[in-house]
Amino acid sequence: MVTFPTLRPRRLRKNKLIRDLVAETNLTTSGLIQPIFIKENINEPEKIESMPGVYRYPPNDHLIKFIEEVYSSGVRNFILFGIPSFKDEFASSAYDKNGIIQKSLRLLRQTFGEKILLITDECTDEYTSHGHCGIITQKDGKLCVNNDESLKVHALIAVSQAEAGADIIAPSSMMDGVVGAIRKALDEAGFTDTAIMSYSVKYASTFYSPFREAAYSKPSFGDRRGYQMDPRNAFEALKEASLDIEEGADILMVKPAHTYLDVIRLVKDHFPEYPLAAYHVSGEYSMIKAAAINGWIDEKTAVLEITTAIKRAGADLIITYYANDIARWIKEGVPF
Ligand code: PBG
Repeated sequence: MVTFPTLRPRRLRKNKLIRDLVAETNLTTSGLIQPIFIKENINEPEKIESMPGVYRYPPNDHLIKFIEEVYSSGVRNFILFGIPSFKDEFASSAYDKNGIIQKSLRLLRQTFGEKILLITDECTDEYTSHGHCGIITQKDGKLCVNNDESLKVHALIAVSQAEAGADIIAPSSMMDGVVGAIRKALDEAGFTDTAIMSYSVKYASTFYSPFREAAYSKPSFGDRRGYQMDPRNAFEALKEASLDIEEGADILMVKPAHTYLDVIRLVKDHFPEYPLAAYHVSGEYSMIKAAAINGWIDEKTAVLEITTAIKRAGADLIITYYANDIARWIKEGVPF
């Protein structure tokens, strides 16, 4: 005789209303952060070949128009990346009062006041002639990134970004002690209310390649494996996160996101009291985009499924080149 089950999980999947009623994870627009590339000495937006649909903006009406468009979708948070026309060994254009990011921050503050949240990526790789995330010195006859010399430059950049109006500074260099150095410098300069979102757990990932084309920040020699994390390690993430917490980080981050869901879960479980950001990076964006352009996947459903997975893994905030689209799609209703 056939016995029929009395426990039937399918009852709660009967239709969309009941699925929405019991959904454990819901994407929210308030947790989305839109990255923006801002480039010096151009007048029109420029296409980025490796990231279809993403542009480099000049700090003028074009940038304002783009932010207005994203704002009207509901996104309020932006992380800015600067592309300077001048580079040197010391990243001096990164802490210039009239640098690309400083100029843009003032323009956006003037235009939008407190209506938008402005986060700045704090690093040197876009500003150095060698493309590394710090200062290069010789050690045992070899060129290497000098950790403690680099801290001084990162502190200068952070303070100049805060001065120009950044709400949150996001150090992405993976130098040891960078969060502490920045916190101290910000406090001494009177920016005690400027928050730090640390790229705490940032892996040496091949999925940053499209970004490096977008921002012209590929290292001219060597790679970043001496400072970014080894993709084979998960528990080491806890060491990185706990050091950043001790040094004064307000928000933690795991990067990339889609390929490191286990790490997001691990960090969230260990430090649930800290807001956790996840960065869905350029390569993760471009892979979906390429498949969508070829008609191999449905872009909206794929993006919403992946972004929901990132949130389900434990991310509170998500940095994504799809932020504008996701916000519009949430309004239309998710297709689950
Ligand atoms: C460093 C920085 C990088 C990204 C964000 N901040 C590049 C790198 O570490 O090489 C990558 C972001 C992405 O791939 O979308 N300033």
